[in-house]
Order: sequence, then C-alpha cells, then structure tokens
Amino acid sequence: MLLEGKVAVVTGASRGIGRAIAEDLAAHGAVVVVNYNASSEAAEEVVAVITSQGGTALAVQSDVSQFDQAQALIKTTLDRYGQIDILVNNAGTTCDKLLMMMKEQDWDMVLDTNLKSVFNCCKAVARPMVRRKQGGRIINISSVVALVGQAGQANYAASKAGIIGFTKSLAKELGSRQITVNAVTPGFFPTALTAVLPEDAVETSREFIPLGRWGQLPEVAYLVSFLASEKAAYMTGQVISVDGGLAM
Ligand SMILES: NC(=O)c1ccc[n+]([C@@H]2O[C@H](COP(=O)([O-])OP(=O)(O)OC[C@H]3O[C@@H](n4cnc5c(N)ncnc54)[C@H](OP(=O)(O)O)[C@@H]3O)[C@@H](O)[C@H]2O)c1
Repeated sequence: MLLEGKVAVVTGASRGIGRAIAEDLAAHGAVVVVNYNASSEAAEEVVAVITSQGGTALAVQSDVSQFDQAQALIKTTLDRYGQIDILVNNAGTTCDKLLMMMKEQDWDMVLDTNLKSVFNCCKAVARPMVRRKQGGRIINISSVVALVGQAGQANYAASKAGIIGFTKSLAKELGSRQITVNAVTPGFFPTALTAVLPEDAVETSREFIPLGRWGQLPEVAYLVSFLASEKAAYMTGQVISVDGGLAM
C-alpha cells in the first residue's frame, strides 16, 4: 500500500476535509492520529470507521492554536508510535465579518486557529523528523481565498495566505533533509464550515467555477495522500489548487 509503515497526524480530523484526509491516509495504509479540539464523539467515530476497515487510528484532543497543546499532540504521537512521517495541518475556522465590523478577537481567533496552529505543529514535529533522518511530509491546508481574496474574510484570507509564505519558507529550510512541505488550496467543499453560506451564495459560487460544481471530499483527500507518499518525493514548496479551476 502507498503509505504502509507511515505514521500521520491530521489536525482537525473530526469532520469535514480533515476526516476525509484521515480516512484516505488510513485506507492507503498509514497509522493515523485523529486530532480534534472539542468534538470527541465525532473523532472517536472516525477512529471506529478506520478501525472497522482494518486500519489503525487514535483520537487525540489538542487545541492546536495553543503552543503547549500542539507540543503535547506531537509528543503523545511519538510516545505511542515512535515516529511521525506525515503532518497534515488542516484545523481551521472562520469568523466572517467586513473589516469595519471585525473585532480584534475575531482577527486573533482566526489567525491563531488557522496560522499559529501551523507554526505550532511544524515547530513540534520538525526536530523529531530531522533527527530520524527518514525524510517526511508536511501538508498545509490553505484555501483558494488566499489566492483571490474574499470580502468579509480578511482575517481568514490573511491566515491562509500566511500559510503559503510559511510553507515555501519551511520547504527551503527542510529540503536538504528530504522533508517536503506543500500547501493545498481547496475551493468550495461541503462541510460544516461552508454550511453557513446562504443558498444564493452557493448558487453564485458555481457560476465562477469552470467545472460548474463544488468539490467532493475524496477529491481533496486523495491529493493529500499523493503528496504524503513517496511518489511525491520531488515536490516541495508547491501550492496546489483543488478548486474546479476557480482560482486560475
Ligand atoms: N470547506 C471548504 O470549502 C474549504 C475550502 C478551503 C479551505 N478549507 C480549509 O480546510 C480545513 C478544514 O475545513 P472544513 O471545511 O473541513 O471545516 P470543518 O468541517 O468546520 O472542520 C474543522 C475541523 O477543525 C477542527 N478544529 C477547529 N479548531 C481547532 C483547534 N483549535 N484545534 C484542533 N482542531 C480544531 C474541528 O474540530 P473540533 O470540532 O473538535 O474543534 C474540525 O475537526 C480548514 O483549514 C479550512 O480553512 C475548507
């Protein structure tokens, strides 16, 4: 199998895109740590699904926006499985408001959850990955909004654009150790995050997507599994859109 013998940590894997990624990594043979912050039942359900299909998974609570908790997530994984080959920074949130309505805490909460979490988890995993001398894969989930902007999402767009600069910088820092760092920019996918969009906004969004539809969760998950595999060993610092052509 593509990821046999690999250990993966997926942040925010209790539902949505993170869940799809966790399940796909496990289906390709990886042991998967299913991180969540609040949704313990949902995370245990993901573990149960993976286990019932013959895979190995463990749910670990950690608010990855908090430096110490991200450190604990990585330590728990290393204590349990002895290695981390793949880190997928997927945890994310929104707090959409026009700038004139946006409060300082709306900015801080989104930046901490979406961007600081990526720093926190990469910081925790980089040293153990380098020391192990087996290379590694870091995949950061950004957004199409980082590339094109969106009214009402200045905080979200800034966090996701920050991920792109961070990804390219870290790719340069870790390249000589055969640790690849790539970013994925999804377009529109049906999850709790996008369920809040009004129906007319959903309709309008389709008009701007060359493929004329929203993505399906396996369509982003398989890209991540590919990037996590040996087959993507010569790709690093890349920003790969999976958005039906929306941002081109
Ligand atoms: N859906 C889309 O169309 C779309 C498009 C572009 C990019 N994205 C990105 O894809 C990622 C996943 O989004 P989604 O649509 O799947 O969202 P979602 O369904 O709302 O899931 C978000 C996940 O992140 C977790 N999470 C949130 N804050 C966390 C924290 N501080 N620590 C740990 N886990 C945390 C949630 O777990 P708890 O409930 O336990 O907190 C949940 O598992 C996000 O980074 C998002 O920005 C999504």
